Amino acid sequence: MTGTRAFPAGFRWGTASSSHQTEGNNQNNQWWRFEQQPGAIAFGQRSGIACNWWANVEADFDQMAQLGLNAHRLSLEWSRIEPRPGEFDEVALDRYRAMLTALHERGIQPWLALHHFTNPLWLEEMGGWENPAIVEQFTTYTEKVVQHVGDLCGHWLTINEPLVYLGQGWLRGVWPPHHPNLLLALRVYRHLLYAHAGAYHAIHNAQPDAQVSVAKAMRHFDPARPRHLGDQWAARLRRYLFEDLWFSATLDGRLLPPLGIGQVDPQLANTLDFIGINYYARYQVTFTPNPARLFGCEGYTLGRELSDSSSRGPYSQFDPDGLGIICRRLQPYGKPIYITEHGLPDQDDDQRPRWLVAQLTELHRLIRDGADIRGYFHWTLVDNFEWNDGWTMHFGLIDMDPITQIRTPRHSATLYSRIAHANALPDNLLARYGMGSSGEK
Ligand code: BGC
Repeated sequence: MTGTRAFPAGFRWGTASSSHQTEGNNQNNQWWRFEQQPGAIAFGQRSGIACNWWANVEADFDQMAQLGLNAHRLSLEWSRIEPRPGEFDEVALDRYRAMLTALHERGIQPWLALHHFTNPLWLEEMGGWENPAIVEQFTTYTEKVVQHVGDLCGHWLTINEPLVYLGQGWLRGVWPPHHPNLLLALRVYRHLLYAHAGAYHAIHNAQPDAQVSVAKAMRHFDPARPRHLGDQWAARLRRYLFEDLWFSATLDGRLLPPLGIGQVDPQLANTLDFIGINYYARYQVTFTPNPARLFGCEGYTLGRELSDSSSRGPYSQFDPDGLGIICRRLQPYGKPIYITEHGLPDQDDDQRPRWLVAQLTELHRLIRDGADIRGYFHWTLVDNFEWNDGWTMHFGLIDMDPITQIRTPRHSATLYSRIAHANALPDNLLARYGMGSSGEK
């Protein structure tokens, strides 16, 4: 296409979502239970009927098709599929079959995540991810899912953001099970790796051609004081723990300290068919002599534009370069890359359009320079239940009122649709957002 920055043929333009944030009435998991505690969620809010997707997701799938999207990433709710240990609910599995069929009918390729932060209550009560039994339990659940819906899905994410789940539950202790404890965190790290590997092999045993990975949260950490050795070390420690350790295990099977002594376990090796990146924010780290905080405090670089705020402060910073830094860092692993989540909370949509164009321009530049990036899944289609922040964070291309369920597309939806339909960044759109027509910015 002339006069535009075209993306490769077959590029996936999608949105991403998760079961608990959208389906509604997921009463049988640990998040629902947590939400009932006073003060747990911002303003005492609850997930409630969420976006009502369990009852009627099809209307929003129509929206996706109208926007010109050709992929959608959703997650399966384990607590619906296996409500009691070893008992699988065929009705729930059939509902997921219907959802996947509905996506195919609209020309939208489904991508499935098997775990997105929620666990059945029975599992939580057995010790959840702290109990080594999780590896077999997760593998069995995966086998059942693949038997039932595998013919409708070829792209799988075993676990969404395993290390965010670990960090929130076992380092910061702000999510269930609220066990901030470094030794338990290490144990959970191992279980996440082995459960991922168990699921990876289970899927491949049934579907040799499947594409399987995780949605890996990626962050860039800068030392707050660039010449300060403590800050440099605390920033590097984060990268080591959240990236080097994870990729060494899942690509080479090597368990680096403190997970192991460098031994290779073939069960873990080569368990990423592609790299899925969830990218939101870049941080500055200041050294603090506190091992429980991994020797650092994290914050945003001063003087940069910030996004809407959450109860924890600004959610993220306007930083189009960050995604590029991350993709360049992962390219040497030689795997195809998909951006499995990326988004900005912006209720009045006064930042997202400019932000989206800047991010996609960066993505296009990376592809032009040789990066094998094959798809982009925007977080998210409609405003949904944002964990501790309840309904206060508005990530949707489409505004949604959780009480009335009325949807109102934001300008960002129109913009994303133009890009997806064109499979390109049209020049006039780049010019409008100050990204230049043919030159680079
Ligand atoms: C999670 C989503 C969440 C989004 C925005 C990601 O880390 O996977 O569940 O809604 O960030 O906070």
